[in-house]
Amino acid sequence: MTRIGMGLVGAGFVGPHHVDAVRRLGYVDIVAVAGSTETSGRQKAETIGARRGYGSYQALIDDPDVHVVHNATPNHLHYAVTSAALRKGKHVVSDKPLAMTAAESRQLVDEAKQAGVVAAVTFNYRGNPLVQHARTAIARGEIGTPRLVCGHYLQDWLLHDTDYSWRLDPEKGGASSALGDIGSHWCDLAQHLTGLKITHVLGDVTTALPTRKRPRGVREAFQTSGGGEVDVVDIRVEDLASVLIRFENGAKGTFSVGQVCPGHKNDLVVEVCGSKSSVRWRQEHQNELWWGHRERANEVLQKDPSLINDGGRRYAHLPGGHQEAWADAFCNLMRDVYSVIAAGPPYRALPPAVATFEDGYRTNRIVEAILESAGQGGVWTEVP
Ligand SMILES: NC(=O)c1ccc[n+]([C@@H]2O[C@H](COP(=O)([O-])OP(=O)(O)OC[C@H]3O[C@@H](n4cnc5c(N)ncnc54)[C@H](O)[C@@H]3O)[C@@H](O)[C@H]2O)c1
Repeated sequence: MTRIGMGLVGAGFVGPHHVDAVRRLGYVDIVAVAGSTETSGRQKAETIGARRGYGSYQALIDDPDVHVVHNATPNHLHYAVTSAALRKGKHVVSDKPLAMTAAESRQLVDEAKQAGVVAAVTFNYRGNPLVQHARTAIARGEIGTPRLVCGHYLQDWLLHDTDYSWRLDPEKGGASSALGDIGSHWCDLAQHLTGLKITHVLGDVTTALPTRKRPRGVREAFQTSGGGEVDVVDIRVEDLASVLIRFENGAKGTFSVGQVCPGHKNDLVVEVCGSKSSVRWRQEHQNELWWGHRERANEVLQKDPSLINDGGRRYAHLPGGHQEAWADAFCNLMRDVYSVIAAGPPYRALPPAVATFEDGYRTNRIVEAILESAGQGGVWTEVP
């Protein structure tokens, strides 16, 4: 098989997981890493085991051995990096959100189409085998008509005022923090599971910690305070939100997000209640799927390739009782993306488990509609 060269821009928390995932495919070379300076690019390349380290993303994009650019920079750089890669005819795997605003995402959708390359967004929870099992079962009518979609995505890593991330700076993270960062995952997953679009939202957003101590040095995601000098800064973006939603089939829903919820580490839960049964997936117990019934006992399906449907089976790589996890789901998506790239042009459509740039654009629109709704005091707002 022809080897494919990948280049990573932004090797902080999530970037190295992109590398781990593609490395497992067996036919991908980790060609280069670009950091924010020559020194950091070189150091990160060495740590990750990439051949070259660059101090600018353009140098990485210009490297002829890089065929696929993975964009794992902070949100404010997403548009510039992805757009530059597309202009050079490179395939792009962008981490979420696709861009900082819906307007930027809209442009990237057009630019990707023009470039004729493979372009994906890492809404990675889709890659879990039980998510695909549930999605397939819902599509086959096994829960009846979806009527209620509810859940939450709660974390606690920004609980204290000494916790800080670029996500809290609108210049770097965008107009939203919790909703854009993790609410985007929830909305994408809810739509993906049900096959239904969110059409209307009513949002209530809160900034629980209106001031925080921002470190003067660099701190990557999920790193806790290491002491050192700080500036006390006002926080203008939300760290908590609750949202009512309506879907295109008339189904209703509700979800809450927050990064200031003690004890919740990466607690993403989506439940779909249908006219016959309910199904619930919880990321922190991702090898189990709860099924709720009225006329018979409720069930918990444990991930086991021999027990899950054909939609989920190809995403399960270990026998029952052998837990699969976050990184495996991430790798599943990379396998799907790279199999399309490896097959060559004209590129076939990405498998449904992979979020497209259109999906990324839609999620930006949902988040912006929630902020608009909240800004007006909580009124039903249509997702444009
Ligand atoms: N899919 C997921 O589950 C998931 C999880 C975490 C983060 N993310 C997304 O990934 C992106 C990165 O998040 P993170 O948590 O890894 O952040 P992070 O702050 O830990 O890492 C960002 C990295 O980008 C580097 N960087 C900054 N400017 C750069 C430049 N000009 N060129 C190259 N590198 C530069 C920083 O030095 C840092 O190493 C965000 O958009 C975030 O939303 C997605």
